[in-house]
Order: sequence, then structure tokens, then C-alpha cells
Amino acid sequence: MTKTPLRLGIVGLGTVGSGVIKMLNKNATLLSARTGRQIIVSAVSARSRSKERGIDLAGIDWEDSPVALAKRDDVDALVELMGGSEGPAKEATLAAISTGKDVITANKALLAIHGQSLALAAEKAGQVIRFEAAVAGGIPVVKALTEGLAGNKINRILGVMNGSCNYILTRMETSGLSYDEIFAEADALGYLEADPNLDVGGIDAAHKLALLAAIAFGTKVNFASVVLEGIGAITIEDINAAADMGYRIKLLGVSQMTERGLEQRMTPCLVSAGSPLGQLEGGTNMVILEGEDSGQIVLRGAGAGEGPTASAVMSDIIDIARGQRINTFGQPASSLVDAKPTTATTSAPFYLRLQLLDKPGALAKIAAVMGKANVSIDRMRQYAHDTDSAPVLIVTHKTTRAAIDQILNEFSKTKLIGDRPVALRIESI
Ligand code: NAP
Ligand code: HSE
Repeated sequence: MTKTPLRLGIVGLGTVGSGVIKMLNKNATLLSARTGRQIIVSAVSARSRSKERGIDLAGIDWEDSPVALAKRDDVDALVELMGGSEGPAKEATLAAISTGKDVITANKALLAIHGQSLALAAEKAGQVIRFEAAVAGGIPVVKALTEGLAGNKINRILGVMNGSCNYILTRMETSGLSYDEIFAEADALGYLEADPNLDVGGIDAAHKLALLAAIAFGTKVNFASVVLEGIGAITIEDINAAADMGYRIKLLGVSQMTERGLEQRMTPCLVSAGSPLGQLEGGTNMVILEGEDSGQIVLRGAGAGEGPTASAVMSDIIDIARGQRINTFGQPASSLVDAKPTTATTSAPFYLRLQLLDKPGALAKIAAVMGKANVSIDRMRQYAHDTDSAPVLIVTHKTTRAAIDQILNEFSKTKLIGDRPVALRIESI
């Protein structure tokens, strides 16, 4: 082995940081063989020096300040595993770039907000920022887009990118319990972020989608324009009714470049129960990439956790050790364009769940409203009931969200619809 060692500085020794230290120790021989050089850790930093972490830090220097660590002369690459879009994660990243270091991060929040400016700064300084672990944990989706599919025009990206939401939705279906009960269960199991709204509000998954869209479409990361709706309003009634019609509800991210602009949405959608996404259980993630020439590529795996996320961090470390230098978003940051965001999504069938007042002509009036808005009914089901309102499920033919909003507005004027009408898009895969 002739090359000099790659010297890392790791900031953040929590779930992911500890996992990376363990992998570096466990697989040292394998890593040297694959990169042709040793990979060593010069220094680490976290909030508490005394915390027991179950990892061997012998011979590794400690720094109280992540920024001081990032600036050390004996660090070639900073591994940022603290999290947060502002504060020490951003400061340490900038300090590393300005002192000639590459950066590896798992921090989707940081890159979703500051990705463009950080990528520009890194490229100006001749450094690289890699972020495989930031999207879908152990699934090598960033590599798939920046390398494996780099020759393709990407038509569409879609997927389930937040394991906690998928856990909650699938557990609701299997247990028959309410959202609140399963939310509490997920929290007790430690599945939710410290701020659970990052998960159930769809923000974490939207960060990931915005990063993938930048690579896929050559656009500046635009998290702010992701149409965002979390899973907090999904009820067990919705889950059961969707299942009865042959669907599952997923927090689904979809991004595509349309004639109207860049469409990015992270919203609860129905998918066919028999589709790969429909069969995705528990905390697993799935990302589907559709290349013009490659066709559809389906990637499935653990979206979080110590081992899977550390594995993704390791792939970036290995790239840097091998001297493989790829622009942050797969092309020079200065060449990424400002995509016009569009909220006018492509048309799709929709699922409606209504509580319809049970009196003569009620259904006819609802059907008339739909007909007037040019929304055509594909399938319909009305359940037996012993109250004065009937549960009605409708699957429409393809239509737009705008037309659905229009009919919901008209429905409310009829005074025939009780409760909260539910309208969810059905995504075809
Ligand atoms: P974590 O378990 O909460 O660990 C965070 C680490 O950062 C801790 O070691 C903490 O120190 C340290 N830290 C926090 N603030 C600090 C500060 N101001 N100065 C110095 N150290 C500080 O988080 P994690 O789950 O490992 O996540 C790390 C990153 O990976 C985040 O960006 C997260 O979004 C991303 N990620 C995580 C997963 C996952 O499955 N966990 C999956 C994909 C991506 P102490 O230990 O002393 O408190
Ligand atoms: N909170 C995320 C999830 C894991 O549930 O998928 C970190 O990306």
C-alpha cells in the first residue's frame, strides 16, 4: 500500500456516527483492500465527552468544537453526523470547505436548505460534498442517480422516503388502531425524530425528495416549493376504506419535470395494494427511478438505523479515499438551473370518501356536481349504515386536483355531505 492514509474528522457520535466508527474498525482490512489506502480517524466531536457510546475511541483526539475539528491540519475529510440545517453542522461544513477538506454528510435538512450555496462553495474551493446517507438511509439512491443512471434523462422519481410514516400507516392497517395510538407506539419505540413533525408532517421526506430532484433534473435544490402534506389527518376509516377498494395509503414523494415546470410533492396518496409500493411494510423505504432509456428501477431497503445509514456514509468515504470526485448534485453547481415550480400536477384518478345524507336524490345531486365539473366516476361503493348518513366511496377517472377541489367546494354547498370529505390522489406506478 503506497498511498497516504485518508484522515477523517467525525462530528456527531450518535446513532450514525457510532455506526461509522464501528464499521471503520470492523472492516479496516476490507476497506484498505478496496481503496488501496488506510482510512483513519484523527479526531471526533460530540456534545458530551463522557457519554458511554459502546465504541472504541482509543488513540482518537477529542475536540469540543466541531468547527475546530473541521479546521484541523490532520483532517482530510469532515464527516458531519450531527444534523440540523443551521448552527454547528453548517458552520463545521463551511469551515471544512474553507480549509480544503471534503465533506461527507447524512444531513438532508442542511442540504435541502443550503445545498446550492454549499455546493458552490465546495466546488470553488475544489472540494466535494457527498450525501448518500441523507436520502433513504442504506439505499444507494444518490449513487444510482449520479452514476448508474447518469446517461439517462430522468422522467420521474417517486417513493416512500420516511420509514416512520410507513410504519405508522402499515401498523394502523394491521392493528386496526387509530393514528394517535400508533403514533404513540412509534414514539415509544424511538422511531420518531426529536421533533416528530419532521416525520409525520412530511418535512424529512420532502427534504430527501428535493435533493433527488436536483440531481435528476439539473435544478437548484428547491425544498420550499415541494407541495407538502403530512399523514396526521389520515384516519383508520381511510385506511380500511382504501384497502376495501384495493389500495394502500402511503406518504408518497413524486417529482417530475413537466411542460408547466418542476412538480415536487410529498403527500398521502393511494397506490395499488399489489404494486411494489403497496406491498412496502413497516419502516422500509422504496425509491423508484424512471429513466428514459433504463426504464423503471426499483430500490428497496432500510431507510434508517445505525447499520444501514453508516453503510451509506461509508460508500462516500470510500469514494473520497479512491479519489472519485463527483459534483454534489452530479453536475457543476453553477450549471444547475432555477426550475419554475408548478403546483398544477398531472392528472390522476382520485379516491373520495364522503358521508352522504341518506335521503332521496342525494346521490344524484352529488353525481350531478361531479358531472358539471367534468369529473367522471369510475367506481363507487355505498356501505350499509344505521344512521342518517351513508358512507360512500368513489374512485374517479383521471382528473386534476383543481377539479377535485372545485367539486368538494360545490359538495359543501349542497348540505348533503356530513363530516370531513376525504380526497386522495391515486398514483399509478
Ligand atoms: P443523533 O443520534 O441524535 O446524534 C447526533 C450527534 O451529534 C450526537 O453524538 C450529539 O452529541 C452530536 N451533536 C449534536 N449537536 C452537537 C453540537 N452542537 N456539537 C457537537 N456535537 C453535537 O443523530 P443521528 O440519528 O445519528 O443523525 C445524525 C445525522 O444523520 C442527522 O443529520 C440525521 O438526519 C441523519 N440521518 C440519520 C438517520 C438515522 O437512522 N438515525 C438516517 C439517515 C440520516 P451527543 O451524543 O454528545 O449528544
Ligand atoms: N426519520 C427518518 C425516517 C429517518 O423515519 O425515515 C432519518 O432519515
